[in-house]
Amino acid sequence: MQRFDGKVVLVTGGTRGIGRACAELFIREGAKVAVCGRGVETSERAAREIGDGCTGFGCDIADSAAVDVLFKQVEADLGAVQILVNNAGITHDGLLMRMKDDHISAVLDTNLKSAFYTCRAAARGMLKHRYGRIINISSVIGLRGQAGQSNYAAAKAGLIGFSKSYAAEVASRNITVNVVAPGYITTDMTAGFSENVMEKLKERIPMGRPGTPLEIADAVAFLASDAASYITGAVLSVDGGLGM
Ligand code: NAI
Repeated sequence: MQRFDGKVVLVTGGTRGIGRACAELFIREGAKVAVCGRGVETSERAAREIGDGCTGFGCDIADSAAVDVLFKQVEADLGAVQILVNNAGITHDGLLMRMKDDHISAVLDTNLKSAFYTCRAAARGMLKHRYGRIINISSVIGLRGQAGQSNYAAAKAGLIGFSKSYAAEVASRNITVNVVAPGYITTDMTAGFSENVMEKLKERIPMGRPGTPLEIADAVAFLASDAASYITGAVLSVDGGLGM
Protein backbone atom coordinates (compact mmCIF):
# COMPACT_ATOMS: atom_id res chain seq x y z
CA MET A 1 0.00 0.00 0.00
CA GLN A 2 1.53 3.31 -1.10
CA ARG A 3 0.50 6.89 -0.21
CA PHE A 4 -1.11 7.75 -3.57
CA ASP A 5 -2.33 4.38 -4.89
CA GLY A 6 -4.79 4.96 -7.76
CA LYS A 7 -5.06 8.72 -7.16
CA VAL A 8 -5.38 10.94 -10.26
CA VAL A 9 -2.86 13.78 -10.12
CA LEU A 10 -2.40 16.73 -12.50
CA VAL A 11 0.89 18.64 -12.35
CA THR A 12 0.97 21.77 -14.52
CA GLY A 13 4.44 22.40 -15.94
CA GLY A 14 5.35 18.85 -15.00
CA THR A 15 7.74 18.42 -17.92
CA ARG A 16 10.84 19.64 -16.07
CA GLY A 17 12.20 21.16 -12.88
CA ILE A 18 10.06 21.19 -9.75
CA GLY A 19 6.93 19.96 -11.54
CA ARG A 20 8.77 16.99 -12.96
CA ALA A 21 10.16 16.04 -9.55
CA CYS A 22 6.56 16.15 -8.22
CA ALA A 23 5.30 13.97 -11.09
CA GLU A 24 8.10 11.43 -10.54
CA LEU A 25 7.41 11.24 -6.81
CA PHE A 26 3.65 10.72 -7.30
CA ILE A 27 4.36 8.00 -9.88
CA ARG A 28 6.78 6.24 -7.48
CA GLU A 29 4.04 6.27 -4.86
CA GLY A 30 1.30 4.69 -6.96
CA ALA A 31 -0.58 7.61 -8.58
CA LYS A 32 -1.80 8.08 -12.15
CA VAL A 33 -0.21 11.35 -13.21
CA ALA A 34 -0.99 13.87 -15.96
CA VAL A 35 1.71 16.40 -16.80
CA CYS A 36 1.12 19.41 -19.01
CA GLY A 37 3.49 21.82 -20.65
CA ARG A 38 2.67 24.23 -23.45
CA GLY A 39 3.65 21.81 -26.23
CA VAL A 40 2.08 18.38 -26.83
CA GLU A 41 5.31 16.74 -28.04
CA THR A 42 7.45 17.96 -25.13
CA SER A 43 4.79 16.90 -22.66
CA GLU A 44 4.34 13.44 -24.19
CA ARG A 45 8.13 12.93 -24.29
CA ALA A 46 8.49 13.98 -20.64
CA ALA A 47 5.65 11.62 -19.64
CA ARG A 48 7.39 8.70 -21.40
CA GLU A 49 10.64 9.53 -19.59
CA ILE A 50 8.87 9.83 -16.23
CA GLY A 51 7.53 6.32 -16.77
CA ASP A 52 4.50 4.04 -16.67
CA GLY A 53 1.39 5.70 -15.30
CA CYS A 54 2.33 9.17 -16.56
CA THR A 55 0.48 10.83 -19.47
CA GLY A 56 1.49 14.06 -21.19
CA PHE A 57 -0.92 16.75 -22.41
CA GLY A 58 -0.22 20.02 -24.21
CA CYS A 59 -1.99 23.04 -22.74
CA ASP A 60 -1.28 26.73 -22.31
CA ILE A 61 -2.57 27.15 -18.78
CA ALA A 62 -2.92 30.90 -19.29
CA ASP A 63 -5.77 30.13 -21.70
CA SER A 64 -9.05 29.51 -19.87
CA ALA A 65 -10.73 27.58 -22.74
CA ALA A 66 -7.64 25.39 -23.21
CA VAL A 67 -7.66 24.53 -19.49
CA ASP A 68 -11.29 23.36 -19.75
CA VAL A 69 -10.34 21.12 -22.68
CA LEU A 70 -7.34 19.78 -20.72
CA PHE A 71 -9.53 18.75 -17.77
CA LYS A 72 -12.01 17.00 -20.12
CA GLN A 73 -9.11 15.07 -21.72
CA VAL A 74 -7.57 14.11 -18.38
CA GLU A 75 -10.94 12.98 -17.00
CA ALA A 76 -11.62 10.88 -20.12
CA ASP A 77 -8.15 9.26 -20.05
CA LEU A 78 -7.37 8.91 -16.32
CA GLY A 79 -10.47 9.93 -14.34
CA ALA A 80 -11.39 13.12 -12.45
CA VAL A 81 -8.41 15.05 -11.03
CA GLN A 82 -8.13 14.47 -7.26
CA ILE A 83 -4.76 16.10 -6.60
CA LEU A 84 -3.92 19.30 -8.47
CA VAL A 85 -0.46 20.85 -8.37
CA ASN A 86 -0.41 24.34 -9.88
CA ASN A 87 3.30 24.53 -10.60
CA ALA A 88 3.78 26.02 -14.09
CA GLY A 89 5.30 29.47 -13.93
CA ILE A 90 7.44 31.94 -15.83
CA THR A 91 9.53 35.04 -15.17
CA HIS A 92 9.96 38.24 -17.20
CA ASP A 93 12.17 40.27 -14.88
CA GLY A 94 12.88 43.97 -15.17
CA LEU A 95 12.51 47.25 -13.34
CA LEU A 96 8.91 48.47 -13.36
CA MET A 97 9.67 51.72 -15.19
CA ARG A 98 10.88 49.67 -18.16
CA MET A 99 8.47 46.75 -17.89
CA LYS A 100 6.45 46.07 -21.05
CA ASP A 101 2.67 45.49 -20.88
CA ASP A 102 3.22 42.04 -22.43
CA HIS A 103 5.57 41.06 -19.61
CA ILE A 104 3.11 42.19 -16.95
CA SER A 105 0.22 40.28 -18.55
CA ALA A 106 2.15 37.12 -19.39
CA VAL A 107 3.42 36.67 -15.83
CA LEU A 108 0.06 37.43 -14.19
CA ASP A 109 -1.81 35.23 -16.68
CA THR A 110 0.55 32.25 -16.37
CA ASN A 111 1.44 32.41 -12.68
CA LEU A 112 -1.84 33.62 -11.16
CA LYS A 113 -4.89 33.58 -13.43
CA SER A 114 -4.11 29.99 -14.46
CA ALA A 115 -4.90 28.85 -10.90
CA PHE A 116 -8.41 30.32 -11.17
CA TYR A 117 -8.94 28.31 -14.37
CA THR A 118 -7.52 25.00 -13.11
CA CYS A 119 -9.18 25.12 -9.67
CA ARG A 120 -12.53 26.01 -11.26
CA ALA A 121 -12.20 23.20 -13.80
CA ALA A 122 -11.26 20.73 -11.05
CA ALA A 123 -14.10 21.83 -8.76
CA ARG A 124 -16.91 19.75 -10.29
CA GLY A 125 -15.11 16.43 -9.80
CA MET A 126 -13.69 17.33 -6.39
CA LEU A 127 -17.04 18.56 -5.03
CA LYS A 128 -18.84 15.49 -6.39
CA HIS A 129 -16.37 13.10 -4.76
CA ARG A 130 -16.00 15.23 -1.62
CA TYR A 131 -12.26 14.96 -1.89
CA GLY A 132 -9.54 17.17 -3.29
CA ARG A 133 -5.98 18.28 -2.61
CA ILE A 134 -4.74 21.46 -4.27
CA ILE A 135 -1.15 22.64 -3.88
CA ASN A 136 -0.20 25.97 -5.42
CA ILE A 137 3.48 26.77 -5.95
CA SER A 138 4.20 30.35 -4.89
CA SER A 139 7.68 31.65 -4.02
CA VAL A 140 9.70 33.34 -1.29
CA ILE A 141 9.51 36.35 -3.66
CA GLY A 142 5.71 36.41 -3.20
CA LEU A 143 6.24 36.77 0.55
CA ARG A 144 8.96 39.42 0.59
CA GLY A 145 9.15 41.01 -2.88
CA GLN A 146 12.27 41.60 -4.93
CA ALA A 147 13.56 44.51 -7.02
CA GLY A 148 13.15 43.65 -10.70
CA GLN A 149 10.39 41.11 -10.07
CA SER A 150 7.29 43.20 -9.34
CA ASN A 151 5.19 41.22 -11.85
CA TYR A 152 6.38 37.85 -10.50
CA ALA A 153 6.06 38.90 -6.84
CA ALA A 154 2.54 40.24 -7.41
CA ALA A 155 1.46 37.01 -9.10
CA LYS A 156 3.01 34.82 -6.40
CA ALA A 157 1.57 36.95 -3.55
CA GLY A 158 -1.80 36.90 -5.32
CA LEU A 159 -1.66 33.13 -5.43
CA ILE A 160 -1.48 33.08 -1.62
CA GLY A 161 -4.58 35.30 -1.25
CA PHE A 162 -6.36 33.20 -3.86
CA SER A 163 -5.47 29.95 -2.09
CA LYS A 164 -6.65 31.11 1.34
CA SER A 165 -9.95 32.35 -0.13
CA TYR A 166 -10.63 29.22 -2.14
CA ALA A 167 -9.61 27.07 0.84
CA ALA A 168 -12.39 28.73 2.87
CA GLU A 169 -14.92 28.14 0.07
CA VAL A 170 -14.34 24.38 -0.17
CA ALA A 171 -13.08 23.36 3.28
CA SER A 172 -16.39 21.77 4.30
CA ARG A 173 -16.19 19.45 1.27
CA ASN A 174 -12.91 17.82 2.32
CA ILE A 175 -10.97 19.80 -0.27
CA THR A 176 -7.76 21.38 1.01
CA VAL A 177 -5.90 24.22 -0.70
CA ASN A 178 -2.36 24.95 0.41
CA VAL A 179 0.69 26.81 -0.83
CA VAL A 180 4.34 25.80 -1.03
CA ALA A 181 6.72 28.77 -1.17
CA PRO A 182 10.11 27.61 -2.45
CA GLY A 183 13.32 29.58 -2.03
CA TYR A 184 16.06 29.23 -4.66
CA ILE A 185 15.86 25.83 -6.30
CA THR A 186 18.27 24.43 -8.88
CA THR A 187 16.22 24.20 -12.10
CA ASP A 188 16.23 25.64 -15.65
CA MET A 189 14.56 28.76 -14.20
CA THR A 190 17.65 29.54 -12.12
CA ALA A 191 20.22 27.96 -14.48
CA GLY A 192 20.97 31.34 -16.07
CA PHE A 193 22.26 32.87 -12.83
CA SER A 194 25.98 33.68 -13.01
CA GLU A 195 28.48 32.10 -10.57
CA ASN A 196 28.77 35.48 -8.90
CA VAL A 197 24.98 35.86 -8.38
CA MET A 198 24.75 32.27 -7.13
CA GLU A 199 27.57 32.83 -4.60
CA LYS A 200 25.82 35.99 -3.30
CA LEU A 201 22.54 34.08 -3.03
CA LYS A 202 24.15 31.27 -1.07
CA GLU A 203 25.49 33.81 1.42
CA ARG A 204 21.88 34.98 2.03
CA ILE A 205 20.46 31.48 2.52
CA PRO A 206 20.87 30.40 6.17
CA MET A 207 21.37 26.78 5.08
CA GLY A 208 24.07 27.95 2.65
CA ARG A 209 22.83 26.20 -0.50
CA PRO A 210 19.98 26.23 -3.03
CA GLY A 211 17.30 23.57 -2.70
CA THR A 212 16.62 20.63 -5.01
CA PRO A 213 13.38 19.98 -6.93
CA LEU A 214 12.89 16.82 -4.83
CA GLU A 215 12.93 18.87 -1.62
CA ILE A 216 9.95 20.83 -3.00
CA ALA A 217 8.24 17.66 -4.27
CA ASP A 218 8.50 16.11 -0.79
CA ALA A 219 6.64 19.10 0.70
CA VAL A 220 4.00 18.96 -2.04
CA ALA A 221 3.48 15.23 -1.47
CA PHE A 222 3.13 15.78 2.28
CA LEU A 223 0.36 18.37 1.70
CA ALA A 224 -1.33 15.97 -0.74
CA SER A 225 -1.14 13.04 1.67
CA ASP A 226 -3.51 11.85 4.39
CA ALA A 227 -0.95 13.07 6.96
CA ALA A 228 -2.01 16.64 6.03
CA SER A 229 -5.78 16.03 6.07
CA TYR A 230 -6.44 18.86 8.60
CA ILE A 231 -4.14 21.44 6.97
CA THR A 232 -5.74 23.99 4.66
CA GLY A 233 -5.05 27.61 3.72
CA ALA A 234 -1.46 27.21 4.89
CA VAL A 235 1.76 28.48 3.35
CA LEU A 236 4.70 26.11 3.75
CA SER A 237 8.06 27.79 3.12
CA VAL A 238 10.70 25.41 1.78
CA ASP A 239 13.63 27.75 1.41
CA GLY A 240 16.56 26.81 3.66
CA GLY A 241 15.56 29.68 5.95
CA LEU A 242 15.78 32.41 3.27
CA GLY A 243 12.34 33.88 4.07
CA MET A 244 12.85 34.01 7.86
P1 NAI B 1 10.94 25.67 -15.03
O1 NAI B 1 11.09 26.88 -15.88
O2 NAI B 1 12.08 24.71 -14.95
O3 NAI B 1 9.64 24.86 -15.46
C1 NAI B 1 8.42 25.53 -15.64
C2 NAI B 1 7.41 24.58 -16.24
O4 NAI B 1 6.21 25.33 -16.49
C3 NAI B 1 7.84 23.98 -17.58
O5 NAI B 1 7.39 22.65 -17.62
C4 NAI B 1 7.06 24.81 -18.59
O6 NAI B 1 6.78 24.10 -19.78
C5 NAI B 1 5.78 25.09 -17.82
N1 NAI B 1 5.04 26.25 -18.30
C6 NAI B 1 5.43 27.54 -18.35
N2 NAI B 1 4.45 28.31 -18.89
C7 NAI B 1 3.42 27.47 -19.18
C8 NAI B 1 2.14 27.65 -19.74
N3 NAI B 1 1.69 28.83 -20.13
N4 NAI B 1 1.33 26.56 -19.90
C9 NAI B 1 1.76 25.33 -19.51
N5 NAI B 1 2.96 25.10 -18.96
C10 NAI B 1 3.78 26.16 -18.81
O7 NAI B 1 10.54 26.22 -13.59
P2 NAI B 1 10.80 25.64 -12.11
O8 NAI B 1 12.03 26.28 -11.60
O9 NAI B 1 10.66 24.18 -12.08
O10 NAI B 1 9.59 26.35 -11.33
C11 NAI B 1 8.34 25.70 -11.10
C12 NAI B 1 7.49 26.61 -10.27
O11 NAI B 1 8.16 26.91 -9.04
C13 NAI B 1 7.18 27.97 -10.92
O12 NAI B 1 5.86 28.35 -10.63
C14 NAI B 1 8.18 28.89 -10.26
O13 NAI B 1 7.72 30.22 -10.27
C15 NAI B 1 8.23 28.31 -8.86
N6 NAI B 1 9.44 28.64 -8.13
C16 NAI B 1 10.67 28.28 -8.60
C17 NAI B 1 11.80 28.63 -7.89
C18 NAI B 1 13.18 28.27 -8.36
O14 NAI B 1 14.15 28.73 -7.72
N7 NAI B 1 13.35 27.46 -9.39
C19 NAI B 1 11.72 29.40 -6.64
C20 NAI B 1 10.38 29.69 -6.22
C21 NAI B 1 9.28 29.33 -6.96
